Amino acid sequence: MCVAEISNTIKSHPVVGLNIQADITVPGDKSISHRSMIIAGIAEGVTNVSGFLESADCMATMQAMQSMGVKIEQINNVYCIHGVGKYGLTCPENGQIDCGNSGTGMRLLSGIIAAQNFDSEIFGDESLNSRPMTRITKPLKLMGANVSATKNGMAPLKFKAVDKLSAIHYKSPMASAQVKSCVLLAGLYCDGEVVLTEPKLSRDHTENMLRGFGCELQSDDLTVKMQGGQSLRATQIVVPADISSAAFFMVLAVLLPHSQVTFKNLCVNPSRTGVISILKLMGADIRFVNETIVAGEKIADVVVKSSQLTGIDIPHKYVASAIDEFPILFIAASLAKGQTRLTNAIELRKKESDRITVMAKGLKLLGIECEELEDGLLITGGELQGNIVDAKDDHRCAMSFLIAGQLSKQAISVKNCENIITSFPNFLDICHDLGLQI
Ligand code: S3P
Repeated sequence: MCVAEISNTIKSHPVVGLNIQADITVPGDKSISHRSMIIAGIAEGVTNVSGFLESADCMATMQAMQSMGVKIEQINNVYCIHGVGKYGLTCPENGQIDCGNSGTGMRLLSGIIAAQNFDSEIFGDESLNSRPMTRITKPLKLMGANVSATKNGMAPLKFKAVDKLSAIHYKSPMASAQVKSCVLLAGLYCDGEVVLTEPKLSRDHTENMLRGFGCELQSDDLTVKMQGGQSLRATQIVVPADISSAAFFMVLAVLLPHSQVTFKNLCVNPSRTGVISILKLMGADIRFVNETIVAGEKIADVVVKSSQLTGIDIPHKYVASAIDEFPILFIAASLAKGQTRLTNAIELRKKESDRITVMAKGLKLLGIECEELEDGLLITGGELQGNIVDAKDDHRCAMSFLIAGQLSKQAISVKNCENIITSFPNFLDICHDLGLQI
């Protein structure tokens, strides 16, 4: 992919009279891309993956699998993963695995690394090494893994070789697909039945993909059950477009007058569409066309038209399915009529940054009245003014503030944007194609 360089400080200038009429295809889904490398790597046979997201996070997961002996070839736009089977992974050089900035990479890989017969250490950058890992080390230890975190419960995580793991019935304290996926992947190395229950449904891409690889799982509302020890058969994967990347341009299309954008081939798995439900509740005109189901994932073209937004109390039932989209939803709320209140979203403080504080600080600098709550944010809609804000190395905050710059009275400069490459390397290229001045 040929992409514009992403510098650390980026200025976004509002374009007078801009409206957008476009079809946009955003890159492949990040969650599905990570899973494709990990699951195909421990399957038997060759899996071809097309539409893989070539972002820094997903490339780190791919390299982690390669470092454990999985051969991966790229032929045109297809990655061919030569699965080594569940017991075919080998010790990486010096036992070290670098996950970069990726919490998904680290927490999912841990599920399989915990079951290996070699010692290893898994680490990330400064941000990742300060995110909570007890949420996965706790269930992994209950399954018999020999894993230790730092004394604050963070990475680096050190794993010692084990022979086998044991099955678990686990009640996850949070709605987290990373925790659920870690336990399910470790469950492939257990005898007995693995059962996981979560308080709200988190994204279910791991369950869908494991089924595609021939694994039997039963999902019933908030509980997923799997007979441990199953093996995986290679398959073909077509990664659909990422709704989390589309969300930035959805909000822009809603808020720019006389605009209409169609997002092609978007993954609209119901466990991911909270952003659409919330925007619709605020008054946005959003419709699905050409709906299909591919490998258990619902796909559609999503048509978004300019609309007047009104502030709402965000229903708790949408929080888990919109968890990565709150930074851009906060921009939408800043330009909606009246107040928007988000609560029950404490997990936002544990992402690549504390997204409640980073967004609240930025919005205040942009002239928006908002109040930080322990588990959310209260925003009163108004007008965005120009200023300099800090994205604190968080890709989603960076892109949200850059979109805000297209909707504000004056230019917005955003500091610490480089991590946009972790999820959306061609974000600026799409902006430029649409005529945005970023
Ligand atoms: C992800 C799960 C979510 C999400 C993250 C990707 C995944 O995290 O925020 O960006 O691919 O499983 P949690 O599992 O911590 O909610």
